[in-house]
Amino acid sequence: MERTLIIVKPDAVARGLVGRVLSRFEAAGFEFVRMRFELLPEELVRRFYAEHEGKWYFARLIDFMLSGPSLFIEARRDEAIHRARNLAGATDPCEAEPGTIRADLGENLPRNCVHASDSSESAAREIGLIFGAD
Ligand code: CDP
Ligand code: MG
Repeated sequence: MERTLIIVKPDAVARGLVGRVLSRFEAAGFEFVRMRFELLPEELVRRFYAEHEGKWYFARLIDFMLSGPSLFIEARRDEAIHRARNLAGATDPCEAEPGTIRADLGENLPRNCVHASDSSESAAREIGLIFGAD
C-alpha cells in the first residue's frame, strides 16, 4: 500500500470544510494513518515548500500557510499518490475539473483547499517532515 501526505489547508479549515474534504478521501478508499492539526512554525513551512523558494508566488504561499492552522494527514491506499492528486484536481481552482476538491471547494490561488504529495519521494520527505519517522 502506498502512503501520501494530504493537507487540509488554512482556507478550508477557516471555511468549515474539513469534514467535507475528509469525507471525499474516505469515500475514495483512503485510510488515515496519522493526523496533526496545527499552525506550523514559519521555519517548518518554509522547509516544507523549499522547492518553491525564488518563485514569484513564494511569499504569498508562505503567508497563506501561516494564516491559520492546517490539518496534516498521512493517508494510505493503493496508488495513493496519483489518486489523491486526481481527487484534489488542478492547482488553480479555476482550471480544475468539476468534481475535484479544488474545483468544488477552492477559491483561487493560493487558496486551493488541499495539498497532496506529487511523488513517492515527496511523500516520504513530507511525511518525515510533519510526522517524523515511523
Ligand atoms: O499544490 P500543487 O502541487 O498542485 O501546486 P504547486 O505548483 O506545487 O504549488 C504549491 C502551492 O503554491 C499551490 O497549491 C498553491 O497554493 C500555491 N501556488 C500559488 O499560489 N500560485 C501559483 N502560481 C502556483 C502555486
Ligand atoms: Mg506541488
